[in-house]
Amino acid sequence: MSLIKLQNISKIYGFGDATTIALDEIDLKIEKGEFVAVMGPSGSGKSTLMNIIGLLDRPTIGNYLFEGKYVSRIRSDRAAKLRRDSVGFIFQSFNLLNRLTVLENVSLPLIYKGYGQYKRYKLAGNILERVGIKNREYFYPNQLSGGQAQCAAIARALINNPKLIIADEPTGNLDSAGSRLIMEILSDIHSMGNTIIFVTHNPELTRYATRVVYMHDGNIIYDEKTAVGRVAKRARKTLYTIPTKTIDDDLEGISTLMKAIPQPNIRPTKKTKKSQKYSKKVNKRRLKK
Ligand SMILES: Nc1ncnc2c1ncn2[C@@H]1O[C@H](COP(=O)(O)OP(=O)(O)OP(=O)(O)O)[C@@H](O)[C@H]1O
Ligand SMILES: [Mg+2]
Repeated sequence: MSLIKLQNISKIYGFGDATTIALDEIDLKIEKGEFVAVMGPSGSGKSTLMNIIGLLDRPTIGNYLFEGKYVSRIRSDRAAKLRRDSVGFIFQSFNLLNRLTVLENVSLPLIYKGYGQYKRYKLAGNILERVGIKNREYFYPNQLSGGQAQCAAIARALINNPKLIIADEPTGNLDSAGSRLIMEILSDIHSMGNTIIFVTHNPELTRYATRVVYMHDGNIIYDEKTAVGRVAKRARKTLYTIPTKTIDDDLEGISTLMKAIPQPNIRPTKKTKKSQKYSKKVNKRRLKK
């Protein structure tokens, strides 16, 4: 039985003329213990796929079986519980809470399990030891380097002992030394029998993977088993490595941002006589040119 089985999964955003097919009838099986890299240009559907596999989002069409059970249509509270117990997430931007210490951040998921503080901190301390930043347990996130912050985020993802770890560009904000550190930790976790899926634009990082899935326009266009230690054959093609963004993507991003930020109620200020005179002068000068 596969840990993950996606059958004919599509994800469609928007309505009418403004629809985007983020995932287009995807079939994918991932077995327990695999270490899968997902590559593809910007907008090809990698994060959408991660969010569906990690039960953060639902497919529009298709079936998802997690450990043989249909989960694509389960109620959102059941999805949340399954996610909490079975999936650990690592994101590009660490997502640590700035007002909590590293130890508190890492032990946070255990609150939902009803563990007392002593047990929470003990388990969190053990995991911090494992990822090499036990000496930073009482630091706040803004006192950490990028690499250390990502180690803390990994520790938090591991604390529930999840069956599946999903890392969406976990090294995207790190330099090459930081990236190597994070990948070494993920490798260690993989060698203990965990299943890991990570998104990357960096071909070098396919060295750590046992399999590389290449995406383009919402489709999986190649799926390649690779030897650990070697860069995957297709990974160096620029198509998969350069995050390509169009002007349309930028505009879409800006308009989403505008919607997300409440707009202040700005009243147009009356033009003073002085400013009217000034604009007239500038306009005249422009016309002359
Ligand atoms: N919430 C949303 N609403 C509308 N469209 C979306 C939404 N999320 C993603 N999309 C669209 O779905 C497509 C796939 O997006 P996705 O974020 O999965 O790409 P990606 O491969 O992760 O890109 P990147 O490498 O830039 O992170 C894009 O065209 C994107 O604009
Ligand atoms: Mg993405």
